[in-house]
Amino acid sequence: MAILVTGGAGYIGSHTCVELQNAGYDVVVLDNLVNSSEKSLDRVEAITGKKVKFYKGDICDRQILNEVFAKESIDSVIHFAGLKAVGESVQKPWEYYENNIAGTLTLVDVMRQNGCKNIIFSSSATVYGNPAQIPITEECPKGQCTNPYGWTKSMLEQILSDIYKADNEWNVVLLRYFNPIGAHKSGTMGENPNGIPNNLMPYITQVAVGKLPELGVFGDDYDTPDGTGVRDYIHVVDLADGHVKALKKIEEKAGLKIYNLGTGVGYSVLDIVKNFEAATGVKIPYQIKPRRAGDIATCYSDATKAKEELGWTAKYGIKEMCEDSWRWQKNNPNGYED
Ligand code: NAD
Ligand code: WQD
Repeated sequence: MAILVTGGAGYIGSHTCVELQNAGYDVVVLDNLVNSSEKSLDRVEAITGKKVKFYKGDICDRQILNEVFAKESIDSVIHFAGLKAVGESVQKPWEYYENNIAGTLTLVDVMRQNGCKNIIFSSSATVYGNPAQIPITEECPKGQCTNPYGWTKSMLEQILSDIYKADNEWNVVLLRYFNPIGAHKSGTMGENPNGIPNNLMPYITQVAVGKLPELGVFGDDYDTPDGTGVRDYIHVVDLADGHVKALKKIEEKAGLKIYNLGTGVGYSVLDIVKNFEAATGVKIPYQIKPRRAGDIATCYSDATKAKEELGWTAKYGIKEMCEDSWRWQKNNPNGYED
């Protein structure tokens, strides 16, 4: 039996392939490489010593999905494939709804036709909108998303929940990630953004390596201890481990479950800059800029439910997150192009 990992060549997917193989699972990846490189899977193989079976293809393409299910014995699907650039989603809403929503509907249809009714879905803390409470528990109501990307996550949660309600043979685990950063300890795998990064940590590491001159800090007048935005940063290897734990839950018959995957600790933008400097010895010049549209002041999790029900907690702290992000960037200034 194998696990199908859609989007498995991407940042979180490739790290999850390592943890799955280390836990003894056979892995099949389907990815159209729209935002990733197949080289990430060579790195997975180098780390684990095990082959990753790879299909280059799109989750919107029923034919390739049928081929995968016909050739492989798929037990469960971990569904990472999706477009994820918040700003781009505002410019190209149709493309985001088509890719993320139509793609998932096609995937789920092929799954059920093949009797595979186990899915772990990559959701996001973005579904909470401007959260009604901090720290955020899973009971916190979903909120208004500020962009089409966020709505695809919120809508797909609803769609997958409705599919479970109509057919209780499904196991649906919705994992709401907070802010993934860090990289594999080996320094051979990490985040590989196209163009100028939108997210904080890849921006910082590109300043550190000299590709960008300075960091712009988006606002210092939020209602937070130092005025800059506070987030729950989580090491990508911890996040990957959360998926292995969620699979175990599915093996025990999960039903419909929702879990926050975060550390429960909030760091401000300036905390991250200071921690990065302390962990790496590299100075990060920065300038305060206006607030970025759509940003909220504070977002961090209460991850108690994942601890109690999955036996999962984040092991890595901010020092390791900074060290590991930096090791990847320093060794691979141009990501997988090096
Ligand atoms: P990523 O872009 O590195 O990985 C996504 C992968 O999906 C890429 O390899 C891409 O090529 C592939 N893909 C996209 N559309 C596809 C399609 N139609 N068919 C096949 N493959 C397709 O992103 P990531 O950071 O690894 O994120 C993985 C998932 O987690 C995404 O669904 C993302 O929305 C979600 N998520 C990410 C974050 C984050 O901050 N990184 C936070 C919360 C949720
Ligand atoms: C973190 C903090 C910024 C860049 C986004 C998505 C969310 C989720 C994770 C997928 C904020 C500040 C950032 C910079 C800065 N993705 N910042 N200068 O916005 O919390 O979440 O990624 O689901 O949906 O919205 O993450 O890393 O962009 O920002 O000052 O150059 O860093 O204002 O306070 P965010 P981020």
